Amino acid sequence: MTTITSREVHLRSRPHGLPSADNFALVETELPAPAGDQVLIRNRFISVDPYMRGRMRDTRSYTPPFGLDEPLTGGAVGEVISSASEEFDAGDFVLHMLGWREYALAEARGLTKVDPSLAPLQSYLGVLGMPGVTAYVGLLDIGEPQPGETVFVSGAAGAVGAQVCQIAKIKGCRVVGTAGSAAKTRWLEEVAGVDATINYKETSNLRRALKQACPDGIDVYFENVGGAHLEAALQYMNNWGRIVVCGMISQYNATAAPPGPANLVLMIGRRLRMQGFIVSDHPERRDDFVRDVSGWMKEGRLKWEETVFEGIERAPEAFIGLFHGENLGKMLVKV
Ligand SMILES: NC(=O)c1ccc[n+]([C@@H]2O[C@H](COP(=O)([O-])OP(=O)(O)OC[C@H]3O[C@@H](n4cnc5c(N)ncnc54)[C@H](OP(=O)(O)O)[C@@H]3O)[C@@H](O)[C@H]2O)c1
Repeated sequence: MTTITSREVHLRSRPHGLPSADNFALVETELPAPAGDQVLIRNRFISVDPYMRGRMRDTRSYTPPFGLDEPLTGGAVGEVISSASEEFDAGDFVLHMLGWREYALAEARGLTKVDPSLAPLQSYLGVLGMPGVTAYVGLLDIGEPQPGETVFVSGAAGAVGAQVCQIAKIKGCRVVGTAGSAAKTRWLEEVAGVDATINYKETSNLRRALKQACPDGIDVYFENVGGAHLEAALQYMNNWGRIVVCGMISQYNATAAPPGPANLVLMIGRRLRMQGFIVSDHPERRDDFVRDVSGWMKEGRLKWEETVFEGIERAPEAFIGLFHGENLGKMLVKV
């Protein structure tokens, strides 16, 4: 093998507000055969995730910004088609971070072998991958839910949210979730076993709807959305409640500073704890996560959905779709 032609998505310009197709460019490139400790991978599925929006800004954060006119990166799973490394053989399936492209020339040290006979390949990007660990660590370690408590989850029909809802049910909690369509709230109630749901796009008064859905107040709020959701949740938090700050997607495209919650003062009298977290800080929980989640999947206690866009050229559309609620469960691109 000499070279291989691959298509990859570059960041052409930094989005202002909601990203659009012209912020991205599809670029054809030639990859050489692997050398040294390299492996050539044919990507099968790539992940698009809300956190990538933060990396499109040129600001300091917990991860460096994406470079302009460079291929974007992110989670991907694929098949090794040739290898110069002793650790990997052609035919191995691997999880890695060189997404947004058809083929990846990767150093062996950045790859994790996965077994598609244990679970569908793409589930290593979702229910058994980064969003799954986020749900597991965020809910169990930071939220510390107790049986009988009420757990409120925003963004409940997304990759993280749907898993949080179901783990909370498994732990004996009453679960309330918000999502942005009737199809999503139906799935949450009929498939995921969520006790009460709110379609926040159809609700004129989120606070009142939440009060009705949580007659005993809220013990754990799993925050994926921010803004009006946080303000409404604060209003009904019980004493000693925990707010797990996982994400605030409603603010990721903001072009001006969003208003803070007007009722933050409630945290004092209610003795609330509000804690942010980043999933990559918790590698020690990986084995527990795999054991528990794969067990619940096998027992049929954990259901998951994927929304799949086909073709590398549709990756920007899939990414932008996250901000329009186009996904039920994990948003993926099949390449
Ligand atoms: N802290 C960490 O380590 C970590 C790790 C992974 C993810 N996260 C965060 O967790 C959250 C969920 O991530 P995910 O991967 O599971 O994404 P996701 O929920 O699968 O997809 C995003 C969903 O957010 C909802 N949404 C978009 N814009 C919204 C808005 N303005 N207001 C309310 N809802 C909106 C949409 O659903 P609707 O139809 O319901 O609107 C959309 O489907 C994100 O905030 C993400 O940044 C954090």
